[in-house]
Amino acid sequence: MKDSPKIELHLHLEGGAPPALIRGMAREKSVDLSGIFRPDGGYAYRDFWHFLSVYEAATSVLQTPEDYARLTTAVLEESAANGVVYCETFLSPDFCGGGDIGAWREYLTAIREAADAVERAHAITLRGIITCIRHFGPERARPIARCAADTAGDWLVGFGMAGDELKGQPGDFRWAFDCAREAGLRITVHAGEWGGAASVRAALDQLAPERIGHGVQAIEDPALVDRLAEDGIVLECCPGSNVVLGVFKDWPSHPIERLRARGVKVTVSTDDPPFFGITMASDYENLTRHFGWDDAIFADVNRTALDAAFCDPATKKIIAKRLGETQA
Ligand code: ADE
Ligand code: ZN
Repeated sequence: MKDSPKIELHLHLEGGAPPALIRGMAREKSVDLSGIFRPDGGYAYRDFWHFLSVYEAATSVLQTPEDYARLTTAVLEESAANGVVYCETFLSPDFCGGGDIGAWREYLTAIREAADAVERAHAITLRGIITCIRHFGPERARPIARCAADTAGDWLVGFGMAGDELKGQPGDFRWAFDCAREAGLRITVHAGEWGGAASVRAALDQLAPERIGHGVQAIEDPALVDRLAEDGIVLECCPGSNVVLGVFKDWPSHPIERLRARGVKVTVSTDDPPFFGITMASDYENLTRHFGWDDAIFADVNRTALDAAFCDPATKKIIAKRLGETQA
């Protein structure tokens, strides 16, 4: 499955950090991160909420634009090795140099230059979506949205929200989302990973995103599933992430195929692959093993992802060719 071309719409840049890269940076900077690694070298966490704090601890060594360039190169090379031809990555100025918002443009430049170099070598294109972090609260989201609005354009194409969806209400962040939308950024919101169907409804009603990060707990509410299908809301499903974090107890219980069968636009992404010991290729293998997904279904899902991508039409034409589509 590594060779088949894939589109990934939901990948956290810091969440793609190989543990060896973070361990190496910690050593270089004399930061003690020994508590966040298992004896076998992987990341150690007990549950989703502990995962969020381990994730934040790992980002503490990403202190300069050069660190982000190294991170981007490592993440994109791994994506390319899994057949990904187009990727949208979540970036959080909250994590760049410990939240050094004044230096955001330098971080962005370093990330873009690294991504351009990997694109020349491996024919994979990256675009960015700035996310605010829900559990950091709405006040902190405002300067993050301003960073996004100031640098919106052909590369920085979206604004979103990650973090603990059990904290606060999506509408608390309306100012930040209005600011981003006015700057032309497209909107996606994490919901329905841990917060149930009600959290998806709240995100749709209060922030009107065109895509939902995860959204899979919508399956609990048949009327909401109908609404997603009718309104063409795209779900950035991350089934391997959900299974490893315990949102669903195993692959057969995951609702991605039931949602697809009900007409919901589903796509496939990995979220934070080294944290979960997964790859795009392993998720595709599991979708085939557990739900019988074949080449035609994967082609369909990737076409849905390309339609829902936030990049411009010229970029979409290039990506369509990489998918092997004869007409874009
Ligand atoms: N940030 C990184 N990974 C996340 C996830 N799976 N859910 C919410 N916020 C995140
Ligand atoms: Zn996510």
